[in-house]
Amino acid sequence: MNTNTATIAVLGGTGKEGAGLAFRWAYAGHRVVLGSRDAAKAAAAAAELTTLLAGRGTVEGMDNLAAASAAAIVVLAVPFAAQRPTALEVKSVLEGKILVDVTVPLAPPKVDKVQLPEGGSAVERLQKELGPGVRVVSAFQNVSAVHLKDLGHTIDCDVLVCGDDVDAREQVVLLAQSAGMVAWHAGSIANSAAAEALTSVLIAINKRYKVPSAGIRITGVPRYDAGAPS
Ligand SMILES: NC(=O)c1ccc[n+]([C@@H]2O[C@H](COP(=O)([O-])OP(=O)(O)OC[C@H]3O[C@@H](n4cnc5c(N)ncnc54)[C@H](OP(=O)(O)O)[C@@H]3O)[C@@H](O)[C@H]2O)c1
Repeated sequence: MNTNTATIAVLGGTGKEGAGLAFRWAYAGHRVVLGSRDAAKAAAAAAELTTLLAGRGTVEGMDNLAAASAAAIVVLAVPFAAQRPTALEVKSVLEGKILVDVTVPLAPPKVDKVQLPEGGSAVERLQKELGPGVRVVSAFQNVSAVHLKDLGHTIDCDVLVCGDDVDAREQVVLLAQSAGMVAWHAGSIANSAAAEALTSVLIAINKRYKVPSAGIRITGVPRYDAGAPS
């Protein structure tokens, strides 16, 4: 599969993180489809993003199942409570596809405290539930939505990409790169626990230092070895 031409569906793409990622990918020239529980809501959110893109790309909107059916790469960007039901709703069309799970298992109201589910990683748990036919990759948990729709803002946060299928992981590294981010192969899907936990650490830092979007950066490796933006 050529990541540059693959259609990307963003389930929960009407929300903060999903819409921001969709915006960056549409700007990079991908065909992007927003998914929602409500097709009309998806269409309205897609029209807003297309307006914001001002001729530099377009975004379509559909219900979650139609969006997942239309895409080769499906991104899941919904609150933790909706992760499992949303994935199961589209499971029938995910076989052989890459599912990029952005979900962080936050437990409101203490979202600045690490509270991973039993077994460690929410994304690993989903991979077990969906089975090996769905190539689940974990990414973008540490990228704040705050600046994603501001193209003048360089995203100052590296992306940890975890997954058991190395080719799928590589394709997600390339996707992050096309969105202007630096991304790293960060090991197996079990390692997603670290990325998921880091988000609560970053929220605690945001609160303490009164900033909107603390991020992470990997050191000790030449940055051109990562999926660095060219
Ligand atoms: N916001 C960030 O800065 C950020 C950063 C990194 C990771 N994340 C993670 O990314 C995921 C999405 O975050 P977000 O801030 O974009 O969330 P959000 O704006 O609150 O929600 C995203 C979308 O999820 C859908 N949704 C909400 N409740 C649902 C439910 N009960 N069942 C099914 N769908 C539901 C909604 O879409 P429809 O109503 O259109 O179906 C909503 O627009 C979360 O797991 C979050 O932890 C967020």
